[in-house]
Amino acid sequence: MDMSLPAIQLTDVLHSPLPLRSRERYARLQLVRQGQGERVCIHDGRELRLRDIDAGDVAAIKRCFKRLSPEDIRRRFLHSMSELPEPMAQRLCRIDPAIERAYVLEDENVVPGEIRGVGRVYVDEAANSAEFSIVVEQEWTRLGLGAMLMQHLVDECRRRGLSEIWGYVLLENRPMLQLCRELGFVQRLLADEPGTAQISLAL
Ligand SMILES: CC(C)(COP(=O)(O)OP(=O)(O)OC[C@H]1O[C@@H](n2cnc3c(N)ncnc32)[C@H](O)[C@@H]1OP(=O)(O)O)[C@@H](O)C(=O)NCCC(=O)NCCS
Repeated sequence: MDMSLPAIQLTDVLHSPLPLRSRERYARLQLVRQGQGERVCIHDGRELRLRDIDAGDVAAIKRCFKRLSPEDIRRRFLHSMSELPEPMAQRLCRIDPAIERAYVLEDENVVPGEIRGVGRVYVDEAANSAEFSIVVEQEWTRLGLGAMLMQHLVDECRRRGLSEIWGYVLLENRPMLQLCRELGFVQRLLADEPGTAQISLAL
């Protein structure tokens, strides 16, 4: 790990700034560019590596899923799941870069390394938009990681020239709705899916 690189504020690496959030939040995280990905320095001294997901992450993704609460699983996948089937784990890790991007937050301070958060976008070329999904392991929430992942996803969509990023969020999922509100997303209720909102950000 190259500790000699200068630490830069999260706001400095955002290519297209989103509406500003609390100053306290931006002070909590620092990103340091690093060979493969970026080192994320959390205010409490812990560190993670933000990098692209790869095919070698299948076992770690399955372990990460096992640490999620039933509520987090339902909020992420929009239905209950007791386990992550192998084909689905494979599918989540072997992405098609032409239409997908997925970031993981890897904890390299444990052996084997553990994935503490995942954010991904799936592009709908016909609609020129992308659907996002995101999850942060509970022990690592309220540190700004969810907002940081979302900002990376938004930047990725802008780089691709997409006109919108959107996702489905359960109406009971106040943390995610709040997070997205702070980032400027708007919310639309779905007549045929009571209890679920479609949230979107025009890019
Ligand atoms: C929603 C989720 C991604 C938030 O991740 P996170 O790392 O805690 O997010 P952040 O720390 O960046 O928080 C950003 C803001 O979201 C809101 N928020 C986050 N958790 C919250 C909570 N438990 N209650 C209320 N607001 C909350 C707050 O406004 C927070 O800002 P603040 O800490 O300055 O008040 C995480 O809780 C999660 O993975 N949930 C399960 C999966 C899921 O719901 N995915 C979304 C659908 S795809």
